[in-house]
Amino acid sequence: MIERIEQLRTQAEGEISRADSSEALEELRVRHLGRRAELPQMLREVAGLAVKERAAVGQAANAARQALETMIQARVAQLAGEELEASLRADRVDVTLPGAPPQTIGRLHVLTATRRELEDIFLGLGFTVMEGPEVETVHYNFDALNHSPTHPARARTDTFYVEGPPGGSDLVLRTHTSPMQVRAMEAHPPPLYVVIPGRVYRPDSDATHTPQFHQIEGLAVDEDITLADLKGTLLEFARAVFGDERDVRLRPHFFPFTEPSVEVDVSCFHCDGKGFLRDGARCYLCKGEGWLEVLGAGEVDPNVYSHVPTTERNAPGYDPEKIQGFAWGLGVERIAMLKHGIPDLRLYYENDLRFLEQF
Ligand code: DAH
Repeated sequence: MIERIEQLRTQAEGEISRADSSEALEELRVRHLGRRAELPQMLREVAGLAVKERAAVGQAANAARQALETMIQARVAQLAGEELEASLRADRVDVTLPGAPPQTIGRLHVLTATRRELEDIFLGLGFTVMEGPEVETVHYNFDALNHSPTHPARARTDTFYVEGPPGGSDLVLRTHTSPMQVRAMEAHPPPLYVVIPGRVYRPDSDATHTPQFHQIEGLAVDEDITLADLKGTLLEFARAVFGDERDVRLRPHFFPFTEPSVEVDVSCFHCDGKGFLRDGARCYLCKGEGWLEVLGAGEVDPNVYSHVPTTERNAPGYDPEKIQGFAWGLGVERIAMLKHGIPDLRLYYENDLRFLEQF
């Protein structure tokens, strides 16, 4: 029996030392040390042996079992180490290589892209860009802009009022970017050429109105500014956005803070200003008018300057006897709608990728 034990041990040791994976070792463990293997079987039979044989056989079988177990354990650990080494070698990352570019990268929202394009146009014309608060005082939003105390835009149905600190000024979500006209003049002396992009708020919601939208305000104040400067500036803008062939026309209008005030139309880029298409059909974009309304503008009303206190920051200040200016306010959504043929303003805010990916 002892001879058989030694035979089994030698055979198992050979197999274990040749095993080249943890799975193979597990399989050997079951084959040589498992419940039905010969060696453990012999250990179980030791009790039935003659007394003088019992000790020697028991010792040899136990020793063989322990030796094999230890050997398997050691080999398992060694193989695990080798396997780890190999996988580290195979998956090694060279951190000095250039990175793989991401498969899908985002893009600018069409409104952001349009806003930046417009900013660039005005930067090219010598304007600087400023920003201002979206929660605004009634003073800057209405009073300083020459709105009479009963002006309808002040109504709670047309303006979001915001509760401020007790005893503080009345606050609104700005209904336009125009309050920045006065803030800009308070902060800088003339000559002043600024554009102010930003969010504005009104309680409207339908296909052509969302409660929050974007405007770009423009303000130029200098000596000898006339309506011709306004028209020339806006003609440059119209051509940069809608094409070199475009023309602009000014129609009389009313805004409390400009005098005279105008609405500005751009000749329709879809029908070339004719109002009808080559096949004789009425142009759907300008509805046969040949002109597209794009913004409101005017010469700064001298009353507005009187709301600009002269301080250290803007000295010598804004004296309506010495300076003139023009201003405009345009809707970013509207410009992008015209330019890209977008039929419904709400599409901008639904975040549907099928829409956003078209720009
Ligand atoms: N603030 C006006 C609006 O939101 C637009 C506007 C008109 C701005 C004339 C101006 C301007 O600066 O001169 O309807």
